[in-house]
Amino acid sequence: MAGSPPSPWTDWQGHALVVGVGGIGQALLEALPARAPGLTLWSAGRRPRSDRRHLALDLSDDASLEALAARAAELTPLRLLICSAGLLHDGDLQPEKRLARVRRAQLERSFAVNAWGPLLLAQALEAALPRDQPSHFASFSARVGSIGDNRSGGWYAYRAAKAAQNQLLRTLALEWRRTRPQACVTLWHPGTTATGLSAPFRSGVAPQGLFSPQRAAAHLLDRLPQRTPEDSGAFLAWDGTPIPW
Ligand SMILES: NC(=O)c1ccc[n+]([C@@H]2O[C@H](COP(=O)([O-])OP(=O)(O)OC[C@H]3O[C@@H](n4cnc5c(N)ncnc54)[C@H](OP(=O)(O)O)[C@@H]3O)[C@@H](O)[C@H]2O)c1
Repeated sequence: MAGSPPSPWTDWQGHALVVGVGGIGQALLEALPARAPGLTLWSAGRRPRSDRRHLALDLSDDASLEALAARAAELTPLRLLICSAGLLHDGDLQPEKRLARVRRAQLERSFAVNAWGPLLLAQALEAALPRDQPSHFASFSARVGSIGDNRSGGWYAYRAAKAAQNQLLRTLALEWRRTRPQACVTLWHPGTTATGLSAPFRSGVAPQGLFSPQRAAAHLLDRLPQRTPEDSGAFLAWDGTPIPW
């Protein structure tokens, strides 16, 4: 890709899996073969795809996660695991502008995908992660999940679920520091990106502040390889700068 540094993943062998084939996930799937040609690329998500290496997965369904875990051997060694699944709005689920709009069922739906989903994904595939080679588990969080940076309020469920994801994956990073010392777990804010997730909410975003999915994917793939196990547990913006918890 023009302007991108040469990928240090050129020599990596094994498997890569992108979970959540939405706007950014699809762009990652298109960009990864050039970045990591030695990795066999898989995708996973709810929507069926004709690709041979697409796995059916609903992160909010235990049976679906168990079916994924049963295929861990096929994905071994899993060098790159990227979770680009997320849920902000869907039918009755809409970001709450005020307390009166908060509903238990919608909090639970949001937490199932945005908070517990990435952690249970890691649990399902832990056996596929190598112990003797570097690997990455990168998951998309969101800046609005920062508690310290919350200045505008609203969006109770999504904010809280992303904050919970941050805590859960930070905790996972500390466990894997002991059990998988070459693994690097990172949480990323992609910047406001033109996908279905942001579509109803970006009228106030200036065009120069809105990334295409391809650009958001390139940001991650430019910066992720520079992260080492010492960085594991970090919450980072698209440009690599740390975000306050
Ligand atoms: N776009 C932005 O401005 C922005 C800003 C900050 C953070 N993010 C985060 O970036 C990530 C990627 O978002 P995006 O912009 O690419 O959104 P998107 O186009 O809506 O893609 C989100 C993906 O999540 C998947 N998903 C939702 N529920 C799922 C479930 N139960 N099981 C498995 N997959 C599920 C969707 O799958 P289906 O196709 O099956 O529905 C979809 O592929 C998300 O974590 C999002 O929260 C995005």
